[in-house]
Amino acid sequence: DPVSLKNSYKNDFYIGTALSTDQIEEKNSREDSLIKKEFNAITAENIMKSMFIHPFKDKYDFVLTDKFIAYGKKNKMFIHGHTLIWHSQLAPWIQKIKDSTEMKAFMKDHITTIVSKYKGQIDSWDVVNEALNEDGTLRKSIFLDKLGEQYLIDAFKLAAAADPKVDLYYNDYNNEEPAKRAGNITLIKKIKAGGGKIDGVGIQAHWKLDYPSLEEIEKSILEYSSLGIKVAFTELDISVLPNPKDFSGADVNQNFADDPKMNPYPEKLPDSVQNKLAERYASIFKLFLKHKDKISRVTFWGVYDGQSWLNDWPIKGRTNYPLLFDKNLNAKNAYNRVIQLK
Ligand code: XIL
Repeated sequence: DPVSLKNSYKNDFYIGTALSTDQIEEKNSREDSLIKKEFNAITAENIMKSMFIHPFKDKYDFVLTDKFIAYGKKNKMFIHGHTLIWHSQLAPWIQKIKDSTEMKAFMKDHITTIVSKYKGQIDSWDVVNEALNEDGTLRKSIFLDKLGEQYLIDAFKLAAAADPKVDLYYNDYNNEEPAKRAGNITLIKKIKAGGGKIDGVGIQAHWKLDYPSLEEIEKSILEYSSLGIKVAFTELDISVLPNPKDFSGADVNQNFADDPKMNPYPEKLPDSVQNKLAERYASIFKLFLKHKDKISRVTFWGVYDGQSWLNDWPIKGRTNYPLLFDKNLNAKNAYNRVIQLK
């Protein structure tokens, strides 16, 4: 077998990537060969979010999701569904739902229709995404507003009813940090106590060079898995750029492309930082390997630096370097370090 992420880690956990629409449609043959060589799990980066898959009350659009599933099947990949209930990238008509009766009807129709359509074809689902605040309390959203916290239990019940065998996940960011993690654990217990079926927690893992600490990541793996559920790292990337929140007075609508403080490496990442990134990836994967029996999947949020959402978020027009392949699709030293652990 050729050396690749998926081959190196085949006895440990799935190695996945998020796919853009162009990648699902195999528009670029170099990207396509790289995806097929390196990864054995896929998540759709955008197309299964409500604004795309359920744009109007009586209209679902399954064209791209069908292609995504076909891509995964053809290449014998683990297929993850992202995401059923999320307050963001929400179809406008859902944002306008007025009362609890209508919201209940939406949840039932949305979850049942999508999960049953792909029953037996999708391996795991993010049933609910990002329902928690940083302090571990429930995030204000149209779902919480109309239905109260019962919506979380109901979402998992509806998904399990539509496909009893598929793995069901709760997915969030920063849920390896103590306060949010504690809230997430409470939430998982509530879902179980309320009769919902939940099989795993997704830790998005939009991380930085020095944050979160390996200690908190390890505690998270141990504490979540002690609830009897799987742990997946679902959207891994490591930003090397400052967050505008770190600078008081920064206006997120400004274009920072020409600001050396906000966009310090517009041409190339200096070797010193490249090495820090490699070191960080190596220590994270070392930890993952230590707990491989508890980890179901590690998915990167994109294939290569050129396509990363972090080039445009939280501010537009920057150049970030968060993945294992550079913008020319070449493996970085972070890739070599991750492979060398095996
Ligand atoms: C991001 C996509 O990568 C972007 O293309 C899109 O514009 C916004 O959403 N948490 C999630 C993902 O669960 O769905 C988000 O993906 C990144 C943060």
